[in-house]
Amino acid sequence: MSWDELIRPDLAPLVPYAPGLRASQVRERSGKDVVLKLSSNEHPCGPVPIAMAAMREVLPRMNRYSDGGCTALRRKLSERFSVPAESVVVGNGSNEILRLLAQVVLRPGDEVVFAWPSFVVYPMVTAIFGATGVKVPLAEGDVLDLDAMLAAITPKTRLVFLCNPNNPTGTIYTKADFERFLAAVPSHVLTVIDEAYFEFVTDSEYPDGLDYFDGERPIVIARTFSKIYSLAGLRVGYAICPPKLAEALHKVREPFNVNTVAQVAAYYSLDDEAEVRRRRKENQEQKTYLYSCFDRLGIQYARSETNFVYFHTSQPVEVFQALLEEGVIVRDFGNAPALRLGIGTPEDTQMTIAAFDVIAARLGKI
Ligand SMILES: Cc1ncc(COP(=O)(O)O)c(C=O)c1O
Repeated sequence: MSWDELIRPDLAPLVPYAPGLRASQVRERSGKDVVLKLSSNEHPCGPVPIAMAAMREVLPRMNRYSDGGCTALRRKLSERFSVPAESVVVGNGSNEILRLLAQVVLRPGDEVVFAWPSFVVYPMVTAIFGATGVKVPLAEGDVLDLDAMLAAITPKTRLVFLCNPNNPTGTIYTKADFERFLAAVPSHVLTVIDEAYFEFVTDSEYPDGLDYFDGERPIVIARTFSKIYSLAGLRVGYAICPPKLAEALHKVREPFNVNTVAQVAAYYSLDDEAEVRRRRKENQEQKTYLYSCFDRLGIQYARSETNFVYFHTSQPVEVFQALLEEGVIVRDFGNAPALRLGIGTPEDTQMTIAAFDVIAARLGKI
């Protein structure tokens, strides 16, 4: 038996998802006591207290399987968003939702349209199910070019991923852009609106995907508890989708795909809306401090509706390395001339700004 015969040859070009460096790795290498991991768009605070208490309470019952139907959480999400519970599917992170969607609709040879750069998981799930990714470059200002994405749709297109706000650029497309897109997108295409950073958005021009959801139209809204709700390590996200599609997702998901701790943590996190508002406001304030630092240093950046900021640099490798030496981990994109910096606590912002000042003095122009 040869491994090359056994394993699907079309998987050969894929590379495993590469997570950012961990703080402990950088602490060891840099000798810095304080290291800021601002590379994975996580929230700097832990889960909200009511969720922590609920998690502690269920731990002694981990001998039991989780509720495979996520009944309580689905009901709560359905009430929160005024959609039927049959339209809600919960996943092991919204990552699982993206993969399940690809799994139920893609056949080999299909095309999947997404912007680029955008979330790295879109090309991965496309390739895993034998489809072809069609990457549409961002428009001026690092925003999704919905007209160009429409133009990229062919009879072979089965899926379009719209990331709003977009990771890694943090930018949004507007209601007007989206309504033009919706009016023109052909009915054979499933549009997946990935709103992983929805709760951070403050721009009134942002189109909430749910406002366009009617249970029939082929659109899906994917969201997550990994970001503003601080549950990244537990893995819980959800889709709001037409019931027919939800039925298909339930057929292919694992029987107990969302663990009990994640389900209760997500359920109770939804009760602390005041904390969500506080986090959104604090995140916004930290971004304004960073913007003024970037303006002062002449760094070009995209205004972000998320908990990260994408900035351009002609020397990404040097800037990435210099920030590491100052104890700040950001996300790089190989040799692409840009880096992504996560928003942390107010103390993290102060340390980050100090690090930028040091490296600007050392490297000259960033
Ligand atoms: C745009 C986008 N979608 C989906 C996800 C996946 O989130 P999770 O699987 O943690 O819910 C992420 C995570 O970084 C993201 O940036």
